[in-house]
Parts: sequence; structure tokens; C-alpha cells
Amino acid sequence: MEERKILYSAIQPTNNLTIGNLIGAIKNWTNLQNDYDCYFAIANMHAITVRQVPADLRQTTLSMLALYLACGIDPEKCVMYVQSHVPAHAELCWVLNTFTYVGEMERMTQFKDKSARHAENINMGLMDYPVLMAADILLYQTDVVPVGLDQRQHVEISRDIAQRFNNIYSPTFKIPEALYMKVGAKINDLLDPSKKMSKSAENPNGVIYLSDDKDTVIRKFKRAVTDSGSEIKYDPEAKPGVSNLLTIYSVFTGKTIAEAEADFAGKGYGDFKLAVGEAVADKLTPIQKEQARLLADKSYLEGVLRSGAERASRTANRTLSKVYKKIGFYQL
Ligand code: TRP
Repeated sequence: MEERKILYSAIQPTNNLTIGNLIGAIKNWTNLQNDYDCYFAIANMHAITVRQVPADLRQTTLSMLALYLACGIDPEKCVMYVQSHVPAHAELCWVLNTFTYVGEMERMTQFKDKSARHAENINMGLMDYPVLMAADILLYQTDVVPVGLDQRQHVEISRDIAQRFNNIYSPTFKIPEALYMKVGAKINDLLDPSKKMSKSAENPNGVIYLSDDKDTVIRKFKRAVTDSGSEIKYDPEAKPGVSNLLTIYSVFTGKTIAEAEADFAGKGYGDFKLAVGEAVADKLTPIQKEQARLLADKSYLEGVLRSGAERASRTANRTLSKVYKKIGFYQL
């Protein structure tokens, strides 16, 4: 039997994921789980690189797991776990720190952005974020890492660190490849369609959060910017607002862009925006219900996490032990 490739991804625990995260990450994972051996982590160790409210972090950790499950990620097929439950992440991160240069970390785009946004707290963890991410990925001998473009540089540096280590010692880590989502599924802000829809946007009215109820979703779509003219046509250059709405409609209904255009031929912007809002709400409502149902069953969720941590640890510790041996750590 051919061995399946290994896929690794993670999301930081947060309550304000958007439909962009759903489409760009979690929904893709539900398809990928059939073709790869998947590890999906909840990256709480990355989360504390910016200040967190402890009670919220605890809560969002569970609600993130409930979301993964509500979206159809199957704990029988995939390993889902919390990063801090597998100590090997912190341990490998320490070793990899000694194969990473301060200069390369200072040049990372996300580090520079976050340092500007959190000028009062430019801590070592923020700078070390990519090395921890490299440890995440390399511990599992990962083949592919599905990520958004904002994480491209982090996957690149993981490859560099792995290659550096392999060259100094002998092949130890598999060199991972980034897997970018298909084009066309990029979702932009409803009020500023030139920008990617982001959970940290200044104006929440341009963003559909996964927790938004139906009324909120419809209200936000009604206010979405459209473009001059009245035609509902896909043309990202001339009609960025309408094109973004068509993309969202197409993603949430499974129709092609051409079919989406046909649905609205001769219709006005008002009807169009309402229909897009309804398509989105129709998909979000059942996910929200299932997430709430799961959150009420804490012992089930903890069981998933316990089994996930055990399975993840087994693989991770195998890699860590190889690393320790190669670098000369005395092992008992
Ligand atoms: N840094 C990623 C993000 O913010 C989350 C993450 C942590 C991750 N570790 C990872 C993604 C390993 C892929 C692989 O989106």
C-alpha cells in the first residue's frame, strides 16, 4: 500500500474567525483529510506572543476544536490537538533556535508588522514565532502545509532551517512544501474590496465573522459596497465590490461564477446583496448550531484532545529523539 503524505496545519485559537478563514482554511481541510494523513493543531503557544485574556484563551481553545468538528473534520481520520499538550513543540523550538539567525527573524514581514502594531510588547516570543512554527511542521515529517499567502514566508523559513540542520548532520527532517489554496476563493472586505477580509479589520461591518447570526450577516451584506453601473458581472478590476460578492456567492452555493452571474442577470444590487447574505447565513447557521451542541459536551471534546495529544506526541517524540541524538544530547 502506498503511504499517504503527511499534511500539517494549525490555527491560533480565537473567537473572531471570518468566512475567509472558513473558506481559506477549515473547509479545505475537510477535503484534504481524505487524501492525506492530517494533523490539525490549535496553536495556543503562538497565540501568547500577543497578550491574551487567560479565560478567553482557555475558552477559544475549546471552541476552535468544536468548530473544526462542526465543519466536518473527522477525529477518526485526523489528529486534532492543542499545541501546548505536546511538549516536543517547545523542545524542538529551542534546538532550532540555535540554527536560526537573529537577522533572518528581524527581516520577517509578519514580525515587522506585528512589532509596529504591538510596539509596547515586542517580546522574544513574537520574534521567535517562525521558529516555533518550523518546529510544529518539522516534528511530523510533514510533506505539505496548506496556508494562506501571509504564511508563505514562514513555510519558507521552515524549509531553510530544516535544510540547514540536515546539511550539518544528516537527513533528519523532511522538507515541507506549502500548499496554497485554489485561486478564486479569496474573499475581500465588504466595505473595502481592495483588502482581504481580515479578523483584525478596523471596521467589523466589512467582515463576516463565523459567529454572526443571520440578521447580522444580512445587515452587513446589505451595506456592502457595490460599484458604479448596475450590471452584476465578474470583473475584479472594474467591479471589485460586485466581483467579491459573486465570489462569496459562488463559494457558498457551490456554483460557478458564470452560474452566479446568470442567477442575477437583470436583477438589481439590492436583491443581489440579499441573496448573497442568505446563501452565507444558510451555511453558517448549521455550523453554529453544531458548534454549540459540541461545546455543551465538554467530556467528548476533551476525549478528542486527549487522544489527539497522544497520537501527536508519539510522532513528535520520535523526531525529537532523533534530533537530540544527532546534536549530542545524552539520552537515558
Ligand atoms: N501561524 C499560523 C497562522 O497564524 C498558525 C500556525 C501555527 C501554523 N503553526 C503552524 C500554520 C504550522 C501552519 C503550520 O495562521
